[in-house]
Amino acid sequence: MTERQMISLTVNGQVHEVAVEPRRLLSDVLRDDLGLTGTHVGCEHGVCGACTILIDDQPARSCLTYAVQMEGHEVTTIEAIGRDGLSPFQQAMHEEHGLQCGFCTPGIIMTFEAYLRDNPNPDEAEIRDVLSGNLCRCTGYQPIVAAVLKAAARQREERQ
Ligand code: FES
Ligand code: FES
Repeated sequence: MTERQMISLTVNGQVHEVAVEPRRLLSDVLRDDLGLTGTHVGCEHGVCGACTILIDDQPARSCLTYAVQMEGHEVTTIEAIGRDGLSPFQQAMHEEHGLQCGFCTPGIIMTFEAYLRDNPNPDEAEIRDVLSGNLCRCTGYQPIVAAVLKAAARQREERQ
């Protein structure tokens, strides 16, 4: 067995000291060591987007990231979103029926929390382009696009 290395992992604002083998994926450490099972793992090849989390506020695939790379970085997972009530995008996903089985949903939420923060006025083509990085087997994508547009409109209203 490869020797473990102590790392300091900041997740959702909380610092965790964990001993990990250098080969361990961030997705596995989040789920198995920290119990943050909201991050889902689908393909483990960087294709499906189910494992999307934020690293320093930017979306990233946790299945393509080694946990030891996270020293000095801030990781945000789905567990941090909507802690004080649903976020505007979560609320819009609920209203527009943007999820069915929910397997893809945490990754989609993380992707669009960051996207909507940086793009207050997206058009449908842009949304579909971003959404192409997250696979969903259930919804046909249309309700998710509708939810992004609705959340963006609400956020613009709130900012006025
Ligand atoms: S599990 Fe990471 S992209 Fe599919
Ligand atoms: S809701 Fe089932 S995979 Fe997207």
